[in-house]
Amino acid sequence: MHHAADEITSVEDAARKAITDNLFSPRFYTTDYAAMDALSVEPVRAEWDAMMAEYEGDNNHDHFQRDAGFADEALALSAKMSPELKQEFLDFLVSSLTSEFSGCVLYNEIKRNVSNPDIRQLMEYMARDESRHAGFLNSSLKDYGLGIDLGNLKRSKHYTYFKPKYIFYATYLSEKIGYARYIRIFRQFEKHPELRFHPIFRWFQRWCNDEFRHGESFALIMRAHPHLLRGGNVLWIRFFLLAVYATMYVRDHHRPELKQAMGLDPTSYDFDVFRITNEITRQVFPVLLDLDHPAFHANLERLTRCAARADEGKAAGGLAGGLKRAFWSVAAAAVFARMYFIPVKSNALPATTRLVPRW
Ligand SMILES: [Fe+2]
Ligand SMILES: [Fe+2]
Repeated sequence: MHHAADEITSVEDAARKAITDNLFSPRFYTTDYAAMDALSVEPVRAEWDAMMAEYEGDNNHDHFQRDAGFADEALALSAKMSPELKQEFLDFLVSSLTSEFSGCVLYNEIKRNVSNPDIRQLMEYMARDESRHAGFLNSSLKDYGLGIDLGNLKRSKHYTYFKPKYIFYATYLSEKIGYARYIRIFRQFEKHPELRFHPIFRWFQRWCNDEFRHGESFALIMRAHPHLLRGGNVLWIRFFLLAVYATMYVRDHHRPELKQAMGLDPTSYDFDVFRITNEITRQVFPVLLDLDHPAFHANLERLTRCAARADEGKAAGGLAGGLKRAFWSVAAAAVFARMYFIPVKSNALPATTRLVPRW
């Protein structure tokens, strides 16, 4: 459902969308830099050094450059998009850019605030990659005259403080689910090139291999600190898994045109992505969400309906709208809580952590 207030028709709209925080928008983070500085990767040294050699090799150094016809192709294809699809695509570009830039800012800030050589070097490589990703997305916004001023975004956005362990759980998951989302889309356009409605999707495979490697880095950090994967922390892992999966489901179902234009059904796309992510997270998490539990899908649907009702209330405004929004937000929280108690599957961690992106 579309509301005029949500639409991106000017560079100011794009900037406002990137800066404004809501439950489903990408956030910016700060953390405890002294604790980051104190991390040791000695328990995973061999795997760590192999990974750092990959970063140093930088096999994507020449990837994020647009070929000659990129802008023309983008504009010619955009002219054929329906207004709904165009809006969803712009929304996708803005929120992806915000999320890439969020990583870039966080990794840069950690790098600036630690002297630990392993963590500094890692953060420098990851910030390098995210800066390329953000710049590449911004070029596509600039084709429409909607480029975002990243310096202004960095200054204006609200920063949320997260303890390092929450950064690890949340960022690990967002890197890995980001990989799964992009590779699933890339595979779809490999099969159906006639559906590809923007040239940017041709870049997704090598792009998401960067995200995959970023996720590997956090997996190794967590495996080097096994207390993060035991005891009460398992409850946090469950929380982050569910929050990340549920957010994605609600968002993809709120704006389904983008997936439909790709020839994908949002529900099967999301479950494919969950299954890929579940397979990957076996490298580090002691629990996996039970995707096949009958209550899992049913409650995701309930959550989506609650979010839509809350959104209608917000759009209606006034006292009645406010009450409607409050009621359905509480209902959504109750559904989320119910989902939290769906039994999870336990997972024995493998002897070695590293995986190759084979999906
Ligand atoms: Fe990225
Ligand atoms: Fe990343």
